[in-house]
Amino acid sequence: MHTEFQRVATALDRSAVTLVLTGAGVSAASGIPTFRGADGLWRKYRVEELATPGAFHRDPALVWEWYQWRLGLVRGSAPNPAHTVLAELGTRFAGLWIVTQNVDGYHRQAGSRRLLEIHGSLQRSRCLECGTRKPTPLQPGIPYCSCGGMLRPDVVWFGETLPVAALQQSLELAQNCDLFITAGTSGLVEPAASFMSIAAANGALTVEINPIPTAVSNQATVLLRGEADQVFPAIWSILEDKI
Ligand code: OAD
Repeated sequence: MHTEFQRVATALDRSAVTLVLTGAGVSAASGIPTFRGADGLWRKYRVEELATPGAFHRDPALVWEWYQWRLGLVRGSAPNPAHTVLAELGTRFAGLWIVTQNVDGYHRQAGSRRLLEIHGSLQRSRCLECGTRKPTPLQPGIPYCSCGGMLRPDVVWFGETLPVAALQQSLELAQNCDLFITAGTSGLVEPAASFMSIAAANGALTVEINPIPTAVSNQATVLLRGEADQVFPAIWSILEDKI
């Protein structure tokens, strides 16, 4: 087996605290579009029309139509081997945490529990009047709360702040982990884009899983050039066989 894969498997086995940062590429094998690839969402749609508080204020029906389309894709597919192996790793290693920028909810669905969804979840909505959170109904049109208030997707839009507790915990994990793995993210969106340099500055072994170079590749000690749904199972099989 490839020595770099072996190195990461051994590091996982010895790690007290591992932080795995995931992005859209981890869900690509489930058929969920990424944001900046060839068929990426931001190549076809404009952020300012669909993913800002102002866009929702101007045209909530349009914004909901887009989120319902995305939710339909997510509910019509399923977690892939990257999600299921990460959930297995979380069961095996009590110090492993996942911080995800993804809003599809697939890590939770696959069984990961030490999980921080720093961009929220499109599986959940929040009432603009009473603040209640509830599962997003898959239905055409604008959904409403039982109190009569309009629901919005419980995701973080551009110009909004990230959930404070989840962000704080992510930063602490980045500072305290001894192994940091970034998978399927272009490393272009803050604050997650800075997590690897924080981890590296505090002495963690840094690993990138991505088929192509990214904005943060130069901060990674180990580069695993491949697709997350194949790389994670390969690491898992080393752990199963040899350690
Ligand atoms: P991007 O679309 O920017 O990047 C996806 C990354 O995944 C790219 O580097 C691809 O090379 C890589 N990739 C593609 N297929 C892969 C595979 N099978 N396995 C591993 N990697 C693969 O997505 P993110 O970095 O997640 O924010 O985007 C970050 C944020 O930007 C999103 O959370 C979203 C977006 O605007 C908000 O909506 C707030």
